[in-house]
Amino acid sequence: MEITRKSAAELAKMRVAGRIVAEVLALVEEALVPGISTAEVDRLAEQHIRASGGIPSFLGYLGGRRYDMGHPHAYKATTCISIDHEIVHGIPGHREIKRGAVVSVDVGVIYDGWNGDGARTFVCGGREAATEEALALIDTTRLALMAGIAAAQPGNRVADIGAAVEAIGREGGYGIVRGYGGHGIGRLMHEDPSVLNFATDYPDARVRLEPGMCLAIEPMFMTGGEKTRTLRDGWTVVTADRSLAAHFEHTIAIGEDGPEILTKVGA
Ligand code: MF3
Ligand code: CO
Repeated sequence: MEITRKSAAELAKMRVAGRIVAEVLALVEEALVPGISTAEVDRLAEQHIRASGGIPSFLGYLGGRRYDMGHPHAYKATTCISIDHEIVHGIPGHREIKRGAVVSVDVGVIYDGWNGDGARTFVCGGREAATEEALALIDTTRLALMAGIAAAQPGNRVADIGAAVEAIGREGGYGIVRGYGGHGIGRLMHEDPSVLNFATDYPDARVRLEPGMCLAIEPMFMTGGEKTRTLRDGWTVVTADRSLAAHFEHTIAIGEDGPEILTKVGA
């Protein structure tokens, strides 16, 4: 396990990457009108990232630390767009998004060598287009992210983040995705430690949080059971019982006085 602490100059670059991520998600929220295709949303995201001097970090991603745009299994888009029972890693394409759809958008940006990673779940057509069930799921998942961030205090452990996220999920009666979670972030999108969304004893869970560490915290909840499955496209992760899923993610830095959210507009 190798956990890096970022310098003030490095954090300044991660703030720019994070701000671009937040701006993309705000643009997507406005763009999510019924009938727009997932590829159009992806194009908007890529345009904004490049116009801001960033690079989309998902393009060419193969998993782990590997990138190769020419590889047949490489990820070929700027965003992941996961709809309804899709949890994460949905691939943008020709599909049109319908009014009331639960749409999770995940985006990563590299700015001057430093990463930002963030995700939000929206309802196509706005909250008034949503079912009560979808709104409750979305609001609870966002609340769990904020609880996880609040637990990311210097001196606490990685396990405290997962425990805080899990408590909110359980209270809501939601399934919590077990196979995917948050991560350290910096020069690489995925660094140590791994930040799972539930309390369990694994080596990374014991890591003590120190100022300068940067983490992506990303709860994924579903209205049904916890079983997931990956589609034949090799990427899209769905709920096995086709229940609804939501996903929120922020990149944060541990500061002397507490966590700082990097993926915010105005950061
Ligand atoms: N951003 C995702 C995460 O939060 C990973 C995206 S995988 C990719 O960790 F292939 F789309 F890049
Ligand atoms: Co992430």
